[in-house]
Amino acid sequence: MSWTLAITGKGGVGKTTLAALAVRWLSEQGRRPVLAVDADPNTNLDALLGVQVSSAVGTIREEVKQLAQSLSASTGGMDKQHLLELKIQQSLIETERFDLLAMGRPEGPGCYCYANNVLGAAVRRLAGDYPAVVLDNEAGLENLSRRIVQRVDVLLFVADCTTRGLTTARRLYDLAVEMRIDAGALGVVVNRVREPPRDGPRDNSLDLAQRLFENSKVTVVGSLPEDAEVGARDAAGESIWTLPVQNPVWTAAASMFARLAPT
Ligand SMILES: Nc1ncnc2c1ncn2[C@@H]1O[C@H](COP(=O)(O)OP(=O)(O)O)[C@@H](O)[C@H]1O
Ligand SMILES: [Mg+2]
Repeated sequence: MSWTLAITGKGGVGKTTLAALAVRWLSEQGRRPVLAVDADPNTNLDALLGVQVSSAVGTIREEVKQLAQSLSASTGGMDKQHLLELKIQQSLIETERFDLLAMGRPEGPGCYCYANNVLGAAVRRLAGDYPAVVLDNEAGLENLSRRIVQRVDVLLFVADCTTRGLTTARRLYDLAVEMRIDAGALGVVVNRVREPPRDGPRDNSLDLAQRLFENSKVTVVGSLPEDAEVGARDAAGESIWTLPVQNPVWTAAASMFARLAPT
């Protein structure tokens, strides 16, 4: 059975960074290959994982949509499903430590429901073959509501350490409840927590997170510090695999994952 982690939160809060850290941690724990699903159309998980996506599933989504229109429903069903699964296999980037599937985005107007359903079914089947799955989502919850994975073991809401950031995470949680998103455990991660200035007030974002998520099923699972090295390396296009093990974001993330993922 695969263990599935999904990450959500508003844009720019650190979802992709956390997803890459999770892929590295899980693979170092021996749960390899990890299936990394990049479900954010503004994809950059590939760069953080040190590979380059050329053919995103978005193109496949386009092809399935066209196929659905060109073949009659009575003859096309199985062929389309089979073709799609083949295409997905082809678009996987495979490495020893992880496989990456980039979902891309629907390109044209019109209805993608059929294509999305077929795609969802294919990804679910694929995900079942991996020991661990990490899903990096876009800011909304569309992918989770479409159930591109069977079941999420842990859904993490990433928030920056501002009041606004944490309030947005709480709203996203309320939405997830409304959409009946099924997750084994729910957590919030406060990212980019700054060292307080000497003699200055201490950072209270964790207390605020506790208060905001009172009366919810969400646990405050931890925080990651603001770290110049992480930002600079990302800007320079360096992958997560060479981040030094003593980096404070890595050590904080590793101990958080150790609490979240049963061994
Ligand atoms: N703890 C951190 N310290 C410093 N910079 C960070 C930290 N977490 C993320 N960043 C930087 O913030 C930017 C946005 O992060 P990213 O993971 O791409 O966010 P998202 O996927 O939510 O849009 C990136 O440049 C990333 O390197
Ligand atoms: Mg991202």
